[in-house]
Amino acid sequence: MPGKITLQLKQIRKVYTMGEHKIFALDGVDLTFLEGEMAAIMGSSGSGKSTLLNIIGCLDRPTEGTYILDGEDISDLNKNQLASIRNKKFGFVFQAFNLLGRVTVRANVQLPLIYAGMDKKEMEARTKEALAWVGLAGYMNHLPGQMSGGQQQRVAIARALVNSPSLILADEPTGALDSKTSIEIMAVIQRLNREKGITVIMVTHDKDIACYCRRLILLKDGHVVEDTRLDHQRDAAADLAALTEKAEAEA
Ligand SMILES: Nc1ncnc2c1ncn2[C@@H]1O[C@H](COP(=O)(O)OP(=O)(O)O)[C@@H](O)[C@H]1O
Ligand SMILES: [Mg+2]
Repeated sequence: MPGKITLQLKQIRKVYTMGEHKIFALDGVDLTFLEGEMAAIMGSSGSGKSTLLNIIGCLDRPTEGTYILDGEDISDLNKNQLASIRNKKFGFVFQAFNLLGRVTVRANVQLPLIYAGMDKKEMEARTKEALAWVGLAGYMNHLPGQMSGGQQQRVAIARALVNSPSLILADEPTGALDSKTSIEIMAVIQRLNREKGITVIMVTHDKDIACYCRRLILLKDGHVVEDTRLDHQRDAAADLAALTEKAEAEA
């Protein structure tokens, strides 16, 4: 169950200057997230979803505003300080998986641990555990190109998990997947939220995906125009089981 405040954004602005032109990608965003939440950020293309997620994940800095993460004001930290926070607290999942194609699944999953400077034995154990957790225990030596899209996204989730983050940020994690595989990935993300208590903030433009979250935030032109906490969320594992049963009945 969601508990104390994990992050707080106050009057966040992100302005891009293109010659004479100013683009207000985010224009005064106030948002608070609680530990253990599972939130969807929705909105049409260009509404500021990715900009918001990148600022939350310390991949980008706001032009103006205050960002408080676990009680610490991180608004004025420099790039190196932000990178260190990013490594400790966040795991990332992207639409295009963003795996390295020429190296094994093991090497992909270990990437965040190499940055963290962990010893080899511990790295190997953590990698095994993360891959087992997403159901890919036997795939350590595969190359991403030998796997399906859904499997590649699970490798990306294992990579996001391996550093034991307190938050997972996902930008259109199902955007490149068919609808059944999308529900499969949502089942993994729900499990990570429920069983590991990880706070999840994900961007999606798809209502059928957002319904697996417990909070819906709608952006329009860089503003939050709706923010609703739902009292229930769809269960992706149950939906998947129903789909499988239906397919078997039809076969
Ligand atoms: N690096 C950038 N330079 C200039 N404009 C940008 C940049 N990144 C995003 N924008 C603009 O900011 C707005 C919000 O973009 P974005 O956050 O990517 O929206 P979304 O993810 O909702 O599609 C858009 O108008 C986009 O064109
Ligand atoms: Mg985007």
